[in-house]
Amino acid sequence: MKNLLITYNSKTGKTKKYAEEINNYITSKGVKTALISIDEFDIALVKNAEGILFGAWTNGLMIFLQHPDKPWVKFAKDLPEIKDKKVGLFTTYLLATGSMFKKMKIHLGGKISESMFELKSKKGKLSDHDKVLLDNFIK
Ligand SMILES: Cc1cc2nc3c(=O)[nH]c(=O)nc-3n(C[C@H](O)[C@H](O)[C@H](O)COP(=O)(O)O)c2cc1C
Repeated sequence: MKNLLITYNSKTGKTKKYAEEINNYITSKGVKTALISIDEFDIALVKNAEGILFGAWTNGLMIFLQHPDKPWVKFAKDLPEIKDKKVGLFTTYLLATGSMFKKMKIHLGGKISESMFELKSKKGKLSDHDKVLLDNFIK
């Protein structure tokens, strides 16, 4: 992979930190990246990217009914179809991600072909397991 777009939705900064760790790791492997909050998202960035990572913080009732928050849902709704690209999802949480990834996929609707992986972190730190999944993703 030559170009990766990393998007994130962060309320208190943990998902942003996680996105930055992912970005640092990916760039250390020689892949060009664009790292952007959904607030500053520009549709033109999608064009050149071979892969896109969608990050959002886990909202819900702590142990159940997890879902992305409203701004991310709107962001997903406004996206164009991106079936020709590799896609991965990531989130940060406190207790349980539960239905979070399932809901993210529902909101992305038929726009993506499939998600190749799901990364999650309580602290916004990249684990060794995350690194293995990212290595496969950028192959
Ligand atoms: C309104 C609200 C609902 C939350 N619901 C959940 C939840 O259902 N499960 C969970 O594990 N964490 C939940 N959390 C914790 C956040 O997912 C967690 O703190 C996350 O890392 C915040 O990311 P951010 O710093 O990028 O905003 C909730 C936090 C808030 C403010």
